[in-house]
Amino acid sequence: SYKAIILIGGQQHQHGSIFRPLSLDLPTPLFPVAGRPLVQHQIEVCLKVQAITEVLLIGCYNRGDTLDQFITSLQGKYPFKVRYLQEYNPMGLGTGGGLYHFRDQILATDPRGMFVFNCDVCCDFPLRDMIEFYESKPNSHVILGTTVNEKQSHHYGCIVTDPSHQVRHYVEKPETFVSNLINAGIYLLSPADFFSHIRSVYNIRAMHTIEYMNNGDSTMDEVTHVESISLEHDFLAKIAGSARLYVMELSRDRFWSQIKTAGCAIYASRFYLYTYRVSYPEMLSPNSSDTLQSDSNMGPCITGNVWIHSSAKVDTSAHLGPNVSIGANVVIASGVRVRESIVLDGARLERHSCVLYSVVGWNCRVGAWSRVEGMPNDPDADDPHARPNADALFDSEGRLLPSSTILGQGVSLAPEKMLLNCIVLPHKSLSATYKHQIIL
Ligand code: GDD
Ligand code: GTP
Repeated sequence: SYKAIILIGGQQHQHGSIFRPLSLDLPTPLFPVAGRPLVQHQIEVCLKVQAITEVLLIGCYNRGDTLDQFITSLQGKYPFKVRYLQEYNPMGLGTGGGLYHFRDQILATDPRGMFVFNCDVCCDFPLRDMIEFYESKPNSHVILGTTVNEKQSHHYGCIVTDPSHQVRHYVEKPETFVSNLINAGIYLLSPADFFSHIRSVYNIRAMHTIEYMNNGDSTMDEVTHVESISLEHDFLAKIAGSARLYVMELSRDRFWSQIKTAGCAIYASRFYLYTYRVSYPEMLSPNSSDTLQSDSNMGPCITGNVWIHSSAKVDTSAHLGPNVSIGANVVIASGVRVRESIVLDGARLERHSCVLYSVVGWNCRVGAWSRVEGMPNDPDADDPHARPNADALFDSEGRLLPSSTILGQGVSLAPEKMLLNCIVLPHKSLSATYKHQIIL
């Protein structure tokens, strides 16, 4: 059997998150893309592999919180078990420390391999290909790799391989250029070897800590820090070159994106809506061009892949799509145009308003004839290595980079105004036009 572990981090990982302001109201793993929480897409990808018997989410969100409740709501829904394991340290134990702490739970039932997912990546998860690759290299570990351009590579784990796909060098977020080939944030690890390596890292840390304490110069922080272990620094970088670590490269025509910003979520939603089109077309609204002429005045005009919650009310003269998700209880009035956007639960788009490349937060209100517009976050089509930018909000001069427009929860925009490339914090009432600004 195999296990899947999703590293979901915690509230503290969201403070610096450029997913703000939406992450103020909801843990990032629960952010809805194509109508489903980000992490649910990853859980459902595990349905591809029958041998996966359990999916464990490791993080530091409190028990009883929205995240925990969400996991509870999934019980019995899938052929595998889904459980949430909470790290005792609210600061997190690091990407390897959490795995190590819960090793008994992971090793129970003696899995042949463990998939590890960073929760903020979206791709078409080639899990079966990874198993085939893994089975062909006994006693080794597999990283899913992809390529990015040189500038983007500094934000990722960079990998140098030999022709047999063995990892020669691994450098996490290097300052100088190492390679276009990066860690895509999905692994298939050999449990026994992984845990024995991490045990030795842990033991060395513990020994140092005891020395510090005996010298009387350690703080409590240092003591708790001994369990903070990084999968990337303490494992991948250490075993690179040892003939046990391989890369399976995701081909360039396959979708991959990290989802660090709400703008990336719009890009990722294009992919997830497309997967509905392929596997569950009934989840999408029928395209106007596919329905008979006589039916066409029965619903709004739909172009491309559009997902609409059953409780949303959309006027028949509205035009939605491509790549649009409309949440529960949303109201969309006559003449509205929405394209490449995510509209979250309870929002209201008044008559003839227009929303392009934007995320409209929960219970927002966009006034009549107003326009909310962001910029596409697509990778540069002329750059053969580019993936979408997922890194910074500002350029080196402190200017807001062009990106999607994001309205935090409960924002209201007066009629006949325009928001272009703006990020608006929750509960603002805007009665003017703004461009290229963060509105606090
Ligand atoms: N449980 C737990 N505990 N999860 C954590 C912790 C922790 O202490 N710290 C981070 N995570 C989770 C995050 O929620 C995320 O899903 C994942 O681990 C990696 O997050 P980061 O450590 O912030 O790294 P990153 O996203 O900047 O880069 C990682 O992903 C890239 C691919 O998207 C690295 O693995 C890179 O090497 C990789 O290229
Ligand atoms: P492309 O040729 O596909 O790029 O379309 P475009 O040049 O019209 O691009 P743009 O991104 O400006 O508009 C996207 C869609 O939104 C188009 O279908 C427009 O008809 C529609 N649209 C643009 N502005 C408004 C507006 O202010 N109100 C309404 N209702 N629709 C708009």
